[in-house]
Amino acid sequence: MPQLFKPSANSAAKVSLLLTAALPVLLISVGSGISRSAANTGVGNRLDQPVPFSHQHHAWELGIDCRYCHTSVEESGYAGLPDTETCMTCHSQIWTNSPLLDPVRKSYETGQPLEWNLVNKVPEFVYFNHSIHIDRGISCNNCHGPVQKMHLTFKGQPFHMVWCLECHREPEKYLYVDEKNPQLTPRQQVFNLYVKFQSDPEGTNMSPRERALINGKEQVTTVKDLIERGRKLLEERGINKTQLADCSVCHH
Ligand code: HEC
Ligand code: HEC
Ligand code: HEC
Ligand code: HEC
Ligand code: HEC
Repeated sequence: MPQLFKPSANSAAKVSLLLTAALPVLLISVGSGISRSAANTGVGNRLDQPVPFSHQHHAWELGIDCRYCHTSVEESGYAGLPDTETCMTCHSQIWTNSPLLDPVRKSYETGQPLEWNLVNKVPEFVYFNHSIHIDRGISCNNCHGPVQKMHLTFKGQPFHMVWCLECHREPEKYLYVDEKNPQLTPRQQVFNLYVKFQSDPEGTNMSPRERALINGKEQVTTVKDLIERGRKLLEERGINKTQLADCSVCHH
């Protein structure tokens, strides 16, 4: 199946892919059982970081928008991580004596960027793109867990192939709409979720799906009416699911 991969694809990955070309069927049928154990997937693990950065402090308590730090998440494949200047817009003035922020100040002085350890990674031979998912209204929390409540960031989902495919085969089960704010575009709804919960932390005025999402539960439904609604959303959002599970979507 060499037609799947560009010549530029990492050759080691290419070899391993060729060797395992027969695996996907197996992966799809058996893989889900194996891959659900957290030990195998890194789900829930916290990594050592140069600075104990807390999303709960910054994104939830202070209410800083995700896009302030992950500036390219809407426009590009990569969400991106903030540079030291972004931290220093505040920390040159607040918490200036905190020893926890020593590495940030040092990085600012020396120009050496902070080296964050990535929690989420897919292999090189997998193509992923943030902007299209955000544009279709898929919440960060669906894939990353309850980020706004994390003190140290951990991985929320396994990112195995089966996991991606479950949604790519039946995206209508995952799409939802903020019925109270229908004027918002799907992309605006992604970020508005956090804002809404700030003024209503119990989620009294939220739908059960939104409450689940904010708590980091992956969004999926088996309720017939909601699936039907999801089908309409596919149409409204111009999502063509017929080819979404083709190998070439994620491996090219
Ligand atoms: C918009 C302003 C703002 C930005 C930008 C910001 N912070 Fe903060 N940060 C704060 C505030 C305010 C606190 C105090 C929060 C609290 O304790 O409730 C804080 C607290 C912290 C603390 C805890 C300090 C301690 O001694 O307890 C760390 C560590 C930290 N920030 C790291 C960072 C890093 C790393 C960045 C850049 C990626 C960053 N911050 C960007 C405002 C900001
Ligand atoms: C003040 C800056 C700031 C804000 C606001 C912020 N983040 Fe982050 N984010 C970071 C930093 C710094 C890291 C790297 C350290 C870490 O993993 O905690 C990070 C890491 C992440 C990661 C893990 C990346 C990886 O794979 O290692 C995810 C996912 C994430 N952020 C999602 C979000 C979401 C969702 C929001 C909004 C609810 C948000 N962030 C708001 C600074 C920020
Ligand atoms: C459809 C699932 C999905 C959604 C939705 C999603 N992410 Fe990600 N995110 C991923 C995957 C997969 C990776 C690993 C990408 C890689 O290795 O190339 C990742 C990686 C990241 C990283 C690490 C840096 C990078 O760009 O690789 C950050 C930060 C991040 N995501 C933030 C966010 C934020 C903020 C949102 C919401 C605005 C979001 N993500 C929505 C799946 C998702
Ligand atoms: C919750 C649902 C969901 C999950 C989970 C998900 N996706 Fe998607 N993905 C979508 C939707 C919806 C689209 C947009 C399809 C369209 O509009 O035609 C999409 C589009 C894509 C595209 C096409 C991008 C382009 O430029 O054409 C790629 C590549 C992709 N996803 C990769 C992944 C990978 C890799 C994973 C797992 C790490 C993943 N997705 C997980 C729903 C999801
Ligand atoms: C929605 C995105 C998506 C689609 C569509 C997809 N894959 Fe994958 N594939 C992935 C991801 C993500 C991984 C990495 C899994 C991991 O790291 O555990 C992967 C891994 C693989 C691997 C390596 C197996 C291994 O040992 O990790 C092979 C081989 C593969 N895919 C083949 C295929 C084939 C053949 C198809 C079409 C039937 C396909 N993929 C469709 C996302 C996708």
